[in-house]
Amino acid sequence: MTGSVRNAAIALGAFALATTAVILSQTERPPMDSVQRGYRGTAMQEIYNPRFVQAELNANKVPLSLPRLPDAGAKAGVVYKNVKVLGDESVGNFTRLMASITTWVAPTQGCAYCHDVQNMAADTLYTKVVARRMIQMVQHVNSGWKSHVAETGVTCYTCHRGQPVPAQIWFNNPGPLQAGGMAQTPAGKNHPAAIANNSSLPFDPFTPFLEHDSNIRVVPQQALPGTDRQSIKQTEWTYSLMMHFSQSLGVNCTYCHNTRSFTDWTQSTPQRMTAWYGIRMVRDLNTNFLDPLASVFPPGRLGVQGDSPKVNCATCHNGVYKPLFGATMAKDFPELTRAQ
Ligand code: HEC
Ligand code: HEC
Ligand code: HEC
Ligand code: HEC
Repeated sequence: MTGSVRNAAIALGAFALATTAVILSQTERPPMDSVQRGYRGTAMQEIYNPRFVQAELNANKVPLSLPRLPDAGAKAGVVYKNVKVLGDESVGNFTRLMASITTWVAPTQGCAYCHDVQNMAADTLYTKVVARRMIQMVQHVNSGWKSHVAETGVTCYTCHRGQPVPAQIWFNNPGPLQAGGMAQTPAGKNHPAAIANNSSLPFDPFTPFLEHDSNIRVVPQQALPGTDRQSIKQTEWTYSLMMHFSQSLGVNCTYCHNTRSFTDWTQSTPQRMTAWYGIRMVRDLNTNFLDPLASVFPPGRLGVQGDSPKVNCATCHNGVYKPLFGATMAKDFPELTRAQ
């Protein structure tokens, strides 16, 4: 081999190795496991990596609940000065909830994260005003959205996991500034979409589908051409959202769909119906609880367009098909399951 040919061969070899390394780092090594969930022959398996199971279990342990006290004694609404939501609780159980909220949301910061400790009744800190609305939001989810959360329900811990800002939040994303010409109409794309493996699918399917109520359905229901107005462009938005569903729950598309017909509900799993309610619930939480808090959050907590941080499927699910693998913390806190 002449020197230059050898150098070229080495360069090519190095390139091949580097490419393989990049590809391998983006895939999971075998063996994988699968679970059959549909009728035989429908290819409705769930594929999962057995080596990740233990880490997922560890990440979804729930903290112990403090024992609930007998509902006796003076009510918080009578004893304290500025209790607007939890007034019917006994002072003992009110204090128990305050201690629990602290471990769920601000364990290192303590009571002072929400309170001026010189004057516990004051609403001076924005965190207290947000927390009061969050208590109402949790009550609303547990009492009004049983169609999604069933009797499992949620507590602050479902989203917060011991930190003031949940790990999975989102903001309206207008995308990067565009050049002129054709590039001015990016259709929400041409910018790596983190939720869709950095592909060129739309990078913000949340604003239309999980804040506004844009139509998700795209599959034509008529055979004849010209009878259906859904476009490929719209379909890409739906796919981007569906990838978010799969990633948030750590499942394949077949957890909800029989892929021979994505549209047909009679061939879908019951979980697809739960997800349908979930979409409506998330819209409700974003428009009625998070959006109106934009004037309460300090500027540093807002998005580039001045919008509130918002909830999506991952905020509660955190990569698992039922948040915290279905652990029922809410039953220990009847004050959080009460109807508004
Ligand atoms: C994540 C925010 C948050 C944390 C942390 C927190 N609280 Fe509160 N606290 C609230 C909210 C919100 C209210 C008002 C509830 C209502 O309006 O029903 C409140 C009200 C109170 C009140 C009633 C004050 C009055 O006179 O009106 C007391 C007492 C109290 N909390 C004690 C505590 C203690 C003790 C801790 C620490 C163990 C604590 N709180 C931690 C959010 C919090
Ligand atoms: C469905 C998910 C969800 C649940 C359940 C939830 N929160 Fe939140 N919470 C959020 C989101 C999203 C934010 C906005 C994050 C931010 O502040 O940047 C937030 C913000 C907050 C903040 C402001 C933190 C900060 O530093 O800006 C407080 C305080 C808070 N929540 C308290 C609570 C309490 C108390 C509960 C239970 C009664 C609760 N949350 C339940 C989603 C949730
Ligand atoms: C957690 C359940 C769930 C998962 C996982 C899921 N979907 Fe969906 N999908 C739904 C629901 C619910 C709808 C209907 C939404 C509506 O009507 O508002 C839907 C609708 C669709 C539609 C539109 C159907 C129509 O009638 O036009 C397509 C296409 C689709 N999904 C593809 C996918 C693909 C591809 C994946 C995997 C990347 C996936 N879905 C994963 C729940 C799911
Ligand atoms: C407020 C927290 C919260 C949010 C946000 C949320 N979920 Fe859920 N979800 C739950 C809880 C709690 C359960 C468990 C209910 C039960 O035990 O049956 C659940 C269950 C489900 C299930 C049924 C799983 C099974 O195996 O039966 C599906 C599917 C699902 N969620 C999809 C979604 C989708 C899709 C979104 C976003 C559009 C979403 N969820 C957003 C809390 C949430």
